[in-house]
Amino acid sequence: MSTFRSIEWQGDRLVLLDQRRIPEEKVYLELFTPEEVAQAIREMAVRGAPAIGAAAAFGIALAALRGEDLVEADKVLRASRPTAVNLFWALDRMKRIWEGYEGSPEALAQRLVEEAQKIAEEDVEANKRIGRHALPLIPDEAKILHHCNTGSLATVDYGTALGIIRIAHEAGKKVHAFLDETRPRLQGARLSAFEMNELGIPHTVIVDGASGHVMKTFGIDLVVVGADRIARNGDTANKIGTYNLAIAARYHGVPFYVAAPTSTIDLKTRTGAEIPIEERAPEEVAYCGPVRVVPEGSPVYNPAFDVTPAELITAIITEVGIAYPPFEESLPALVAKAQGGRA
Ligand code: MRU
Repeated sequence: MSTFRSIEWQGDRLVLLDQRRIPEEKVYLELFTPEEVAQAIREMAVRGAPAIGAAAAFGIALAALRGEDLVEADKVLRASRPTAVNLFWALDRMKRIWEGYEGSPEALAQRLVEEAQKIAEEDVEANKRIGRHALPLIPDEAKILHHCNTGSLATVDYGTALGIIRIAHEAGKKVHAFLDETRPRLQGARLSAFEMNELGIPHTVIVDGASGHVMKTFGIDLVVVGADRIARNGDTANKIGTYNLAIAARYHGVPFYVAAPTSTIDLKTRTGAEIPIEERAPEEVAYCGPVRVVPEGSPVYNPAFDVTPAELITAIITEVGIAYPPFEESLPALVAKAQGGRA
């Protein structure tokens, strides 16, 4: 398995790079059942919207290979995390194959493995296209602010927002990435810094609260983030703190870009108000590693995502092109283009 590939199918099992252990160690998990896949998603051994979607698709393939009830497997996987629409997008795509399938159980299992592999490979290709579409938006020697982890680990391989930084670096643009550490789970400090380090891309980790100061003092050229769900009007759910970052970017006149495959665009959700926001365990905030940092008895609120209103977003970069406001018009057009298979 390549250095950062988040998931890989190995004949009868799904192999995952356990993201909870990075950067301390690289541990691979071998999953054989849809329940194991759902648990890995819930506990964030695999995380990031596109990676979750592809993993769930393989969860359905595993159920079929084992002759398990696909309705039940679909239900268990759908309940694993609520916000990233890629999970539901991938499960819907798998369901269109298994529902009403008329061939043998063996043929169905084979067909589902193929479809999950297709979802995974399409994601890698989509990420590279996102990076190429974004190139004209990245000035030479750009200072780019990034939130959470949107790299190879968050996708199947390569990455969306971090993929843009990678492609700009590979194109010789001498970019420098400022990485929000992304409390409480530190996807920026642990995962994005790990990827940038391995790739030799110049970067600096900052605490989330430093972003306004860094915009003011260093002169950030652009912010680029990923997305877990983009509503029809462009409102975008992403890792908690993204909204604050967009407000700071607007104040400082910094362009704010969202990078995501069209599988993250949910045209059925009209505005961000309809996006379900996951609330995770208070312990994620109350502890830094094994050390309790919040007094016993102090309540903690831990939303995992927030919604950035469309009006704060400069553009949304997808594998089939860039959507500019008004997003109610540009997003449906891009989704139609993607479904037509044109890029
Ligand atoms: O809770 P996580 O780590 O799954 O959240 C991930 C994010 O918010 C990412 O920015 C998003 O999924 C885009 S990943 C290409």
